[in-house]
Amino acid sequence: MQTLPNKNPTQLKAWDALIKHFKKTSQISIEEHFKNDSNRLDYSVIRWDDFYVDFSKNRIDKKGFDLLLQLAEESGLKSAIDSQFSGVKINVTENRAVLHTALRSIKKEPILIEGENVLSVLDETQKKMYSFCNDVISGTWKGHTGKTITHVVNIGIGGSDLGPAMVVESLKYYKNHLDLRFLSNVEGDHHQEIIKDLDPETTLFVIVSKTFTTQETLSNANSIRAWFLNRAPESAIANHFVAVSTNTQKTAAFGISPENIFPMNDWVGGRFSLWSTVGLSICLAVGPKHFEGLLEGAGKMDRHFQETPFEKNIPIVLALLSIWYNNFYGAESEAIIPYTQYLRNLPAYLQQGIMESNGKSVGRDGIPVNYQTGTIIWGASGTNAQHAFFQLIHQGTKLIPADFIGYKKSLYGNKDHQNKLLANFIAQTEALMNGKSLTQVNEELRTSEMSPDQKEKIAPFKVFKGNKPTNSILIDSLTPTSLGALISMYEHKIYVQGILWNIYSYDQWGVELGKQLASAVLEDIEGMSSHKHDASTIALLKAIS
Ligand code: F6P
Repeated sequence: MQTLPNKNPTQLKAWDALIKHFKKTSQISIEEHFKNDSNRLDYSVIRWDDFYVDFSKNRIDKKGFDLLLQLAEESGLKSAIDSQFSGVKINVTENRAVLHTALRSIKKEPILIEGENVLSVLDETQKKMYSFCNDVISGTWKGHTGKTITHVVNIGIGGSDLGPAMVVESLKYYKNHLDLRFLSNVEGDHHQEIIKDLDPETTLFVIVSKTFTTQETLSNANSIRAWFLNRAPESAIANHFVAVSTNTQKTAAFGISPENIFPMNDWVGGRFSLWSTVGLSICLAVGPKHFEGLLEGAGKMDRHFQETPFEKNIPIVLALLSIWYNNFYGAESEAIIPYTQYLRNLPAYLQQGIMESNGKSVGRDGIPVNYQTGTIIWGASGTNAQHAFFQLIHQGTKLIPADFIGYKKSLYGNKDHQNKLLANFIAQTEALMNGKSLTQVNEELRTSEMSPDQKEKIAPFKVFKGNKPTNSILIDSLTPTSLGALISMYEHKIYVQGILWNIYSYDQWGVELGKQLASAVLEDIEGMSSHKHDASTIALLKAIS
């Protein structure tokens, strides 16, 4: 069942060398690394397209960085990247290729799966999607009473929600008049809040489910359908319901007419699917031109990832640094801090992308791994995050490497606010690295009116140890293209880490058990059966009855 290299990273030569190097250098601070190496920025800044990526504020020297690169070479990363892009079935446990990159392929060179060029099929589907979106946006597409569409509800969960929702929010500046909403949770109250002020005559429902079997999405779609049919005739479904799925039989059974079905392929994973027809809501919100911009940006990053030497390859470098902290420093989590409100949903989106992909504990050899894998991802937009959890990053006991993402220019051009925003971005990365020593604190307290005794007591609380690692990802401005590149950058970082950790990043068996048990428990709640449970579960079931 092997289509990818199968190498336990801890048995690679570079791993051993990294352990030794870690022991030798782990006590050297980032500040000292700067002092020891006047050329540090030469290798730790990557300028690519409109990206400026500075990874110099990390606890690693050039030798350590080179060893990480060696680890990547030894792991067989290069051939793994080639396998992914050429359509090899690298999602072995699901027997699928992983080709979301084909959706944004710039080269347009044929990609063959079982003899068929997937690009030609994609072209047709894309044309259908663009023409539909143009019709809805322009008002050519009418609701059943002849009114134009004003509201769109995306019904989906996980990858069928998080990606589209995050991109629609991120590209708000480029949005048209359509009001986009996202119905994901099976919770009835969420459902009610989304539909309570909707007019069925002017609303379009986009049901998005790769499998068309997901309980939450089908429950929501069925309830919406019932709500709609209380207010409109059956024939009106054709004007107000469309579906995105690989399961065209089930969508047809739901009552969606064939021309309203936007197919997707099984070689596009749910959490990597916003580039496919799953992005229909994005395309409706910003129009095909901007959607194309998103694809173009992702495609450019794909090429950068495929063609750039490891040491200047942004996703690879970020992945290696993350492995350095995860596997050598024992860091458990990483923070993602976008300095723009537009990207406030990026951490939640990346939580699925990263944690569903790399939250695995069995190696590609089928044996439980003997090292740490997937990192915990969290974060929020800056500067809000500074007033929420930065205290813990600055002065807590845990090591939390953080990605700072910012844009040189704001979209509306307010210089005053933008300067303040970027001042905070830069000042935070500097403060996290340098901290504030007791000597500095005492110096600051010198002019204070406190008594010497008070000064001595307060001083330790004002010390910042510093030496907290950050990556600065600075981009010219937030455009569909630069957003596409940013998302693609993180997608590839995921894959690199999966390859080095010798795990399969593109399956998600870990979400299945909960789904199975939820069905059994639901039968118990509804009195249809009585499954065997533990004492705690039985008591919980009693408590809700
Ligand atoms: O949570 C598991 C999962 O399979 C995700 O990977 C996927 O994005 C989500 O459920 C939704 O699945 P579907 O699009 O098939 O409804």
